[in-house]
Amino acid sequence: MNISSVKLAYFSPTKTTQKILEAIAQGVEYNDVGHIDLTPPDSRTRTFEDFNQDLVIIGAPVYGGRLAGEAVKRISMLKGHYTPAVVVVLYGNREYEDALLELKDLAIKLGFVPVAGGAFIGEHSYTKPEFPLSAGRPHSQDLEKAMGFGKAIRRKMDAIKDIKSQDPIDVPGHFPYKDHKPSSNESASTLEDICIACGTCAAICPTAAIMINERVETDSTLCIRCCACVKSCPTQARVMESSRIDKIVKWLSENYSVPKQPETFI
Ligand SMILES: Cc1cc2nc3c(=O)[nH]c(=O)nc-3n(C[C@H](O)[C@H](O)[C@H](O)COP(=O)(O)O)c2cc1C
Repeated sequence: MNISSVKLAYFSPTKTTQKILEAIAQGVEYNDVGHIDLTPPDSRTRTFEDFNQDLVIIGAPVYGGRLAGEAVKRISMLKGHYTPAVVVVLYGNREYEDALLELKDLAIKLGFVPVAGGAFIGEHSYTKPEFPLSAGRPHSQDLEKAMGFGKAIRRKMDAIKDIKSQDPIDVPGHFPYKDHKPSSNESASTLEDICIACGTCAAICPTAAIMINERVETDSTLCIRCCACVKSCPTQARVMESSRIDKIVKWLSENYSVPKQPETFI
């Protein structure tokens, strides 16, 4: 099949999804690589060009065994027309449950033809020095696997004669998908004595939940607890202080510390 470029479309607050998509694109080896970064808040109102002879690699994080809700909203603005797509989810070494199936189904609904799928492991948003959760992932072996996956996708693309008659890939997951967890109103907060009001947290927040006025203010109704602000704060002044999340972190570290391996479906 004649492909002229690869487009990476991702929602990735803490950038692990973005890193894996970039590594897959390296393996695919089409010269022209474009980014459709659906993470900044203004991506909610952007319009997107039609895809034309592109392979689109769509990526999103797993939240509660499902696709992150904001990712679904933003990916839903893309429109394919028998456009070949690779669907990829990133998870924090617990489980990805129904998220990859959900992304495959969403891609089909939007007019894409999923030709490959993958579940990769990224550092968990809630990792802490005292309870490291898949800390540092994706590491170099993960990125090598992502590149190898890209090479296999390229071989498949080169062999496809007619995308319209392509059989759908099989990926794990169940439908109906598992229920979304009830949303909580927790959010990260700021340790004012060490905050330097640099604005990094407000600039990186994917839902524009943080405002810098006299002090850093967070709208907890907008916060999706992605921890982008916590991870990017140059003085470690952003913290996720919640006894509920602390319990989850302890449970994850006690039960999910054996490193999982990426899985690919092609
Ligand atoms: C609210 C929330 C729920 C999460 N749920 C899961 C989960 O069900 N399973 C899992 O393994 N990781 C889970 N994670 C971890 C993320 O999937 C993981 O950190 C991912 O690499 C983040 O992607 P990003 O770096 O592209 O933002 C969750 C993270 C958050 C913030």
